[in-house]
Amino acid sequence: MEKTFLMVKPDGVQRELIGEIVSRFEKKGFQLIGAKLMNISNELAEEHYGEHKERPFFGELVEFITSGPVFAMVWQGENVIATARQMMGSTNPSDAAPGTIRGDFGVTVGKNIIHGSDSPESAKREIGLFFNESELVEYSKLINNWIY
Ligand code: TYD
Ligand code: MG
Repeated sequence: MEKTFLMVKPDGVQRELIGEIVSRFEKKGFQLIGAKLMNISNELAEEHYGEHKERPFFGELVEFITSGPVFAMVWQGENVIATARQMMGSTNPSDAAPGTIRGDFGVTVGKNIIHGSDSPESAKREIGLFFNESELVEYSKLINNWIY
């Protein structure tokens, strides 16, 4: 089953949007298989956002993502990587459609509420950065049978 890494960023946690965000993915029909509230170290932030290290916003991005607790999650389901990106909306909340998480709750690109892996490769990499195998649960085949 496909898996993705999603994370409520410090602005979403401070604005008490964890429940709202978890609820959207639950209601959609995806399964939560790992979650934790945590602080991100500078090292982890720089590694996680490594693809952006030459970008002008990198310093602010690392400063922001380490500024307070985040809610890190692993979700699974059919096509969950691309569907979660659609449910999140465009990177810049001012371009994000109403009904998406960023469209409904965000205003500015620097504080856009949620992170989600953008490909199978980044999902694998990011899940590995934030979670040990033992922190992820398995559901029985019986439960999966009636969800999809
Ligand atoms: P990116 O990976 O392009 O977006 P996404 O989160 O949708 O995958 O960028 C990572 C984060 O960097 C983005 O969520 C917010 C921040 N960012 C800026 O602050 N300014 C920018 O111009 C861009 C493109 C991103
Ligand atoms: Mg990205």
